Amino acid sequence: MSTLLQLTSSLFLNGGQSSQLSEAFVEGWQRKHPGGTIVKRDLAADPAPHLDAERFGSFLARPEERTPAQHEVVAFSDRLIEELRTAEVIVLGLPMYNFGIPSVLKAYFDHIARAGVTFRYTENGPVGLLTGKKVYVFAARGGHYAGTPLDSQTGYVRDFLGFLGMTEVEFVYAEGLAIGEASKQAALSRAREQLAALTD
Ligand SMILES: Cc1cc2nc3c(=O)[nH]c(=O)nc-3n(C[C@H](O)[C@H](O)[C@H](O)COP(=O)(O)O)c2cc1C
Repeated sequence: MSTLLQLTSSLFLNGGQSSQLSEAFVEGWQRKHPGGTIVKRDLAADPAPHLDAERFGSFLARPEERTPAQHEVVAFSDRLIEELRTAEVIVLGLPMYNFGIPSVLKAYFDHIARAGVTFRYTENGPVGLLTGKKVYVFAARGGHYAGTPLDSQTGYVRDFLGFLGMTEVEFVYAEGLAIGEASKQAALSRAREQLAALTD
């Protein structure tokens, strides 16, 4: 049976536009996969800590030499990775804040990129170990960036996920949300049409 992991990162929690678009997609997916399992992780409500030297050192330490505190850090990261491993479908709510991804999403990314666990280096370069997944990204932005050099998110998120082996990534954009009510409503209904087509 299919498992879907829904990751949201809006500081407005469920009220965020990226969260609401993600939710609409998940509802459509659920109708299509009535027996499917849905796992939700709200990265804003329950944020991963920033990666610091102590936490990164926990990843590097040999398992038999880890302190209890280091074991806890690794266990937390392992839980996040296990959620990803188990899911065939991953849904990511992606707000744009100050020209970048939410800091809570970056902190999460920093806990799932683990050498030897989610990627490994080979003679032919890095190989991602989280393969066979389909990722749907719902990007909400106040302005318009898609397809321009100011879109700092699309390439970065695609590259990061690809580095971990998640190469099938589809983006749906809701842009111009801060420009005016008409622009906002038009963008949201376009995004909803697109996401409905994805679960058809
Ligand atoms: C703190 C903050 C920073 C923002 N920075 C940008 C920005 O740099 N570019 C932009 O187009 N919109 C920006 N916005 C508008 C958001 O992208 C827009 O509100 C979008 O709906 C956020 O997604 P969310 O509703 O899922 O949180 C910002 C909003 C907030 C609250």
